[in-house]
Amino acid sequence: MPTKAGLYDDLARQLAALIEGEPDRIANAANTAALIYHGLPGLNWAGFYLERGGELVLGPFQGKPACVRIAWGSGVCGRAAARRESILVPDVHEFPGHIACDPESAAELVVPLIEDGRVTGVLDLDSPERGRFDEADRHGCERLVEIFLKGR
Ligand code: SME
Repeated sequence: MPTKAGLYDDLARQLAALIEGEPDRIANAANTAALIYHGLPGLNWAGFYLERGGELVLGPFQGKPACVRIAWGSGVCGRAAARRESILVPDVHEFPGHIACDPESAAELVVPLIEDGRVTGVLDLDSPERGRFDEADRHGCERLVEIFLKGR
């Protein structure tokens, strides 16, 4: 079994190759969500919420249908956007204000997309396993977001 760091190294390489030369943000977001959802074990949702008129609106994702609009500052996604930093939640039941799109979700990791100082959306990962995400996941996903935003 590859180490977690090795797994993220592979995903980083695959993501860079997938989006290379493609300027369409939605196409790249769709492929990024698919790569993460199928590449990381134990997820039940992976995808994007994008900033639209001061709120977060559902973007490309893999998993069950989800809440469409999230107010800035609400839930884990809105909080990560407002704080401009990633949020790792080992147990969503202990996160006040967590928005339960799928009652099966138990752990969550949200990484904001920051471009030219502006939060343009978030990457959101959910898992039915409590404690599924750790600092290695946070670091790995922040790196994937960097690649997604810069195309390398
Ligand atoms: N749980 C998130 C809402 C989005 S879904 O997990 C896909 C939140 O609290 O922001």
